[in-house]
Amino acid sequence: MRKPIIAGNWKMHKTTKEAVEFANNIKEKIETNVEAVICAPFTQLKDLKIALAGTEVKIGAQNFHYADQGAFTGEISASMLKEIGVDYVILGHSERRELFAETDQTVNLKTKKAIEAGITPIVCVGESLEQREAEVTKEVVKAQVVAGYQGISAEDAATTVIAYEPIWAIGTGKTATSEQANEVCKFIREVMASLYGQATADVIRIQYGGSVKPSNVAEIMGESDIDGALVGGASLVEADYLALMKF
Ligand code: PGA
Repeated sequence: MRKPIIAGNWKMHKTTKEAVEFANNIKEKIETNVEAVICAPFTQLKDLKIALAGTEVKIGAQNFHYADQGAFTGEISASMLKEIGVDYVILGHSERRELFAETDQTVNLKTKKAIEAGITPIVCVGESLEQREAEVTKEVVKAQVVAGYQGISAEDAATTVIAYEPIWAIGTGKTATSEQANEVCKFIREVMASLYGQATADVIRIQYGGSVKPSNVAEIMGESDIDGALVGGASLVEADYLALMKF
């Protein structure tokens, strides 16, 4: 009942020329039963949208500003992204939390704005290695989810995607075991059930992210509470992207 969603997170990689080449190369070959997404840098989105027209592949951004417009030098608004047909936006990625002062409060404002703009947010949560070792993973993740969804209705929450990404597994080659990943994804669903009721929790899609690649995607996707993956490094390689989508 929950359609799996696998999204590539290209981070700050590829020029527009490279992105369009990638799109043209995967276009004819892509076979998938999941919702396939590419979250690319802002400058590539419009050309990617055009290059991927006629395919099922959706495009996503990796951030935006929560204000409608204004004196925010260097920022991009949700309506600017909506105008070019952006379907998804990654919000609160740990790199943005760590390096760009993203907080649970800004994630909350952005999640609300995404819903208002008709862009599906992929809300990222996850613990650091120190937090995992201190055995506070669930407390940390719960606090991020509760703060991130403050003031959001059950109906709206049901349309969003949550990505559980343990920071220690991102770009490190260290994947959480599928049991570890599922345990936290299941816990996130319980948190959603306590906030919104079981019916909402049952439809919300929860991804795992952190060193997902063609060789481990099937096992991860086989878990009961994991409905997709957010993939960094492996999503940059055409053959790997295709393999991930048809795992
Ligand atoms: P990774 O990145 O797949 O390269 O570990 C995942 C992410 O940061 O979303």
